[in-house]
Amino acid sequence: MEELKIVRSTEKYAVSYCQTFDEVAKEGKFLSISGGYPIEDILRFIKVCRQSGYPQFLLVEPGGRAVGWCDIVRRCDEPDDVGFLGVGIAKKYRGMGWGSRLMTATVNDAKKRGFNEIRLEVRASNYNAIRAYTRLGFVKIAYITDGVVTDGAAEDVWLMSLYCRDIRPEGFEREKFFALFPKTGFRFRKG
Ligand SMILES: CC(C)(COP(=O)(O)OP(=O)(O)OC[C@H]1O[C@@H](n2cnc3c(N)ncnc32)[C@H](O)[C@@H]1OP(=O)(O)O)[C@@H](O)C(=O)NCCC(=O)NCCS
Repeated sequence: MEELKIVRSTEKYAVSYCQTFDEVAKEGKFLSISGGYPIEDILRFIKVCRQSGYPQFLLVEPGGRAVGWCDIVRRCDEPDDVGFLGVGIAKKYRGMGWGSRLMTATVNDAKKRGFNEIRLEVRASNYNAIRAYTRLGFVKIAYITDGVVTDGAAEDVWLMSLYCRDIRPEGFEREKFFALFPKTGFRFRKG
């Protein structure tokens, strides 16, 4: 198999990025939504990432088709140095190290841009993703009981964090952490 490339996202990959996102979302097991976004939204998102300095990388086949994405964005209710990671790659390229390489490129870029902490949410049943995140240094911080419902079945969602400077921020307090995630139902991991 020819080598894939990891490239910074631009509009020229928008159509295939849009299709790949849609395919992964429709698998219904991984993302928080069960279908993709219209191309206009994807184009707007690529522009916002570029203009705001958010790291966004794509996994691209030799023919120029985007078959994976990874981005780290700020959320308005979180501190400026905290980014939120989203990732996904097409089924046929999973389990071969591409996701880890794509995330490493994106996280390294985030570190250069001054992010001190990267957070993500992952379904408790998504063992492959949790394994990949753990290998990159993410740690489980908390879980949301019944954080996601698929076809009527609820499951827990883990919150994971990567501390870019290898230390937790000074004065880390659980109450503050709670306040940063404006959702109900968090339970902190024991121990
Ligand atoms: C999560 C995801 C990005 C990881 O990327 P990946 O390329 O599949 O993962 P890697 O090949 O880099 O593997 C990293 C680790 O995960 C394991 N792994 C990941 N996917 C696997 C798979 N499909 N089969 C077996 N092992 C897998 C590997 O064993 C590896 O651990 P190890 O090296 O200790 O054995 C990718 O699987 C994916 O897109 N999944 C669907 C979408 C998704 O879950 N997005 C995240 C939502 S929170």
